Amino acid sequence: MKTSLAKPMAERAAEGSSLVRNAERFIDVRDVEMVFTTRKGRFHALRDIDLQVRKGEFVTLIGHSGCGKSTLLNLIAGLTRCTGGVVICADKEVTGPSPERAVVFQNHSLLPWLTCFDNVYLGVERVFSSRESKVQLVARTHAALALVGLDHASAKRPHEISGGMKQRVGIARALAMEPKVLLMDEPFGALDALTRAHLQDELLKIVGKTGSTVVMVTHDVDEAVLLSDRIVMMTNGPAATIGEILSVDLARPRDRIALAEDAAYVHCRASVLEFLYRRHAMPGEKKAA
Ligand SMILES: Nc1ncnc2c1ncn2[C@@H]1O[C@H](COP(=O)(O)OP(=O)(O)OP(=O)(O)O)[C@@H](O)[C@H]1O
Ligand SMILES: [Mg+2]
Repeated sequence: MKTSLAKPMAERAAEGSSLVRNAERFIDVRDVEMVFTTRKGRFHALRDIDLQVRKGEFVTLIGHSGCGKSTLLNLIAGLTRCTGGVVICADKEVTGPSPERAVVFQNHSLLPWLTCFDNVYLGVERVFSSRESKVQLVARTHAALALVGLDHASAKRPHEISGGMKQRVGIARALAMEPKVLLMDEPFGALDALTRAHLQDELLKIVGKTGSTVVMVTHDVDEAVLLSDRIVMMTNGPAATIGEILSVDLARPRDRIALAEDAAYVHCRASVLEFLYRRHAMPGEKKAA
């Protein structure tokens, strides 16, 4: 049994924007600071973070290793509480994790003893079981797996599928919960270049259909330019902050091959490289740039 998950989700996203009081500040990170308390004392990871993401926007966070990208994503997810400032999502303060803000982790965190179907079903059940029948939950699960092109693998367990397929199950699980926000921490970081390119294209199509609001961490400059509406470039830590935000004004749908020679694309790419490898190079990288 299959139902189309995509169309109702896109419609819901459009309806949702009128229900949210502040669609321009759908995610609103205000004056956020994060200080970790460690055995060696306090570690000031983030300072003065101000970031607003509008409903349906695709934002990437980029910066050198250890600058605080995951920390910022975890604050938006509600997995960590900030030590200063406030994080607001859909007009409500973020005080803990919620299925409304689904997270896709780099290491695809599937439960190895469950099939792909059951890994996705678990999330669906958690969100919808109080108001939907088992038949509807099963249909939702199949629709989400179909959306990432994996309905045929629903009976397999994680060890029986490739890394790229596992990552797609993780994305299906997150999308199936119909989250208001999709948070992704280097979701394609561990994959080979071809699989990564394929999944980036898939993600572009899925987000085009669902109208999801996405915040994604990446190390990959091309990935950031290809996918984003805006690229948030972070300075180096400790006490990292947002150095610059670049708007990527490229029409959608985007085609990676056509873009490779597009002047606006090349300009965006050069701006991010300039930020990362000239203005905010890691010690020892400046000469190489
Ligand atoms: N729970 C914690 N306790 C103490 N320090 C932490 C904790 N989590 C992160 N940090 C520190 O905060 C800084 C930012 O870490 P974070 O994981 O957010 O970086 P990142 O930008 O995601 O790096 P990478 O690109 O390598 O994943 C690092 O110096 C890290 O050691
Ligand atoms: Mg990280």
